Amino acid sequence: MIQLENVTFKYEGMATAALKNVNLTIQDGEMIAIVGHNGSGKSTLSKHLNALLLPSEGTVTVNGMDVKDERNTLAIRQHVGMVFQNPDNQLVTSVVEEDVAFGPENLGVPPDEIRRRVDKALEKVNMTAYAKYAAHHLSGGQKQRIAIAGMLAMQPQVLVLDEATAMLDPQGRMELLGTVKRLNEQSGITVVMITQYMEEATLCDRVVVMHDGSIALEGTPEEIFHDVDKLHQLGLDAPEAVNMRQALKKLGVELDDGIMTTDSLAEALCPLL
Ligand SMILES: Nc1ncnc2c1ncn2[C@@H]1O[C@H](COP(=O)(O)OP(=O)(O)OP(=O)(O)O)[C@@H](O)[C@H]1O
Ligand SMILES: [Mg+2]
Repeated sequence: MIQLENVTFKYEGMATAALKNVNLTIQDGEMIAIVGHNGSGKSTLSKHLNALLLPSEGTVTVNGMDVKDERNTLAIRQHVGMVFQNPDNQLVTSVVEEDVAFGPENLGVPPDEIRRRVDKALEKVNMTAYAKYAAHHLSGGQKQRIAIAGMLAMQPQVLVLDEATAMLDPQGRMELLGTVKRLNEQSGITVVMITQYMEEATLCDRVVVMHDGSIALEGTPEEIFHDVDKLHQLGLDAPEAVNMRQALKKLGVELDDGIMTTDSLAEALCPLL
């Protein structure tokens, strides 16, 4: 469990705080989306989850460990793995399996245990066949999956993805999302997904909407994507299927408010045709 209590953060030399009095609890096993307009504080928040940034005021604890206590930093970084936006900046060596081994090597894990972890991590992201590949030959989506495998090899409990799908094509995004969803559901890994894509947020258990450094809304995808006007006020769009659902409802088509994805909209519309 990760707990943020009254967290305020100010970058040095900046007049206003990038995070203002943020309270948030992330439960073990949860898949949570963080959305919000550009500059709303999503990345700043995510960097507080593994002690890359320390709160100016307030407290962050990861599994009960205070991020401000330097003795906890290593354990916290091991517990919470981060994947960032640019697939080309994530990989550190040229061969896929060496890249995945890099983290555990630095942790001093014994070689046979590293071998086991690397094989397992590659399997979990469906990249076993690419173990000996040159990393720079991979697609963006494959690189991101290798970046995730590199994290998995350190056996984290939490994965934080800061717009990790942003630079991928639709196919790469789908594959990465599938991988992350599977890790959450089958391996029980807690996932914090920062995204610009509202469709991705609909796949999560809970959605947090950031606005100007504060949490503006928090709830299930159904709750958050119900009020389209409110989202617009916060500088966000609703998922395409929700916009379509609202437009059709205005035309008198009866549709369930739980519809948020293209698939579920199609399912509801087909019988009406
Ligand atoms: N290194 C930095 N130094 C000073 N100010 C920063 C720094 N990084 C971010 N900021 C400021 O902090 C605020 C929050 O930025 P942050 O990157 O957390 O937002 P974000 O929601 O991740 O935005 P985006 O959607 O563009 O990724 C912004 O006003 C930004 O300009
Ligand atoms: Mg950001």
